[in-house]
Amino acid sequence: MQKATVAAHANIALIKYWGKRDESLFLPTKSSLSVTLDGLTTTTTVTRSTRTTDDILLNGSPASAAVFAQVTAFLDVFRSWFGQNERFSISTENNFPTAAGLASSSSGFAALAYGLSLLCNLNLSPEELSRLARRGSGSASRSIFGGFVLWHMGSAPDGQDSYAEEIFPAEHWEDFRVLVTILSAETKKTSSRAGMQQSISSSPTYGAYLAASAERIPQMQAALAQRDIERVGQLAEADCLEMHRTMQDSTPPLNYWQPATEILMDAVRSLRDKGCPCFFTIDAGPNVKVICLAQDEERIVAQLNSLAEVQSVISCRIGQGVRMIASS
Ligand code: PMV
Repeated sequence: MQKATVAAHANIALIKYWGKRDESLFLPTKSSLSVTLDGLTTTTTVTRSTRTTDDILLNGSPASAAVFAQVTAFLDVFRSWFGQNERFSISTENNFPTAAGLASSSSGFAALAYGLSLLCNLNLSPEELSRLARRGSGSASRSIFGGFVLWHMGSAPDGQDSYAEEIFPAEHWEDFRVLVTILSAETKKTSSRAGMQQSISSSPTYGAYLAASAERIPQMQAALAQRDIERVGQLAEADCLEMHRTMQDSTPPLNYWQPATEILMDAVRSLRDKGCPCFFTIDAGPNVKVICLAQDEERIVAQLNSLAEVQSVISCRIGQGVRMIASS
């Protein structure tokens, strides 16, 4: 194969990953559980380069030094794992704002891992692809799959047992929706990698968060099995708030929220008080994702769009895993 074009969707964690027990192998301090979002898509084309360095285009422009360093570090891992010594040309596009806490690294590295495996004819299993994608960005281990996805933290020092798997397919819950509310398309100031280190090293609540969050994983699995939106939403909101507390009570304090983030959180709570089951979750950025059911989507989207702080709302259903779009 000379060229592979693939697509992957970003995922949003309902039970978060926040912290590494091994920085270089991207091994997490706990398991996490996500849903893959069909409305947030990365499309990546991979070819072999005749040049002496890799080249990387992100949304049509040469990647910044930081992105270039992150992607070439991943390519080096790939080359050393699979005995490749070629350089690659990579062109990747997101149909949503990049690096604004919308999990572009999850879909980005999942797409890249799959594209490289196709180009080099490696025939990797989904589990191997997940382990590979993990080395680009932890959350990418989950975007290999569609539906609801569990990333097992594992315990092996080499990370062999730290990979994700689909626990319910997209078809399990046709009415499940995530409304991704864009408040700011600005690039975030503190990377999730740096933010995680800060929580681990200085948050007084980090240990308690790990313990409580680990307990929420089986509870979330049970709630998803029953398609219980109230329980899913409560667990997701609690996990998100406790994760953000470990950022906000770290030294120096780290706050990914903007005033608009809190306005949105209040708007979601007030809709809920009026009997509309909707819940929020927020990652390492200001944007708010609203979890709800299809029957309430229109009303919630109208309410969100009526707020001056909201730039746009991307309505997502549950997405599928990585897929090939073209090859030659
Ligand atoms: O793997 P990263 O660097 O994209 O970190 C993801 C961190 C969170 O989005 C905040 C949580 C998660 O589990 O996706």
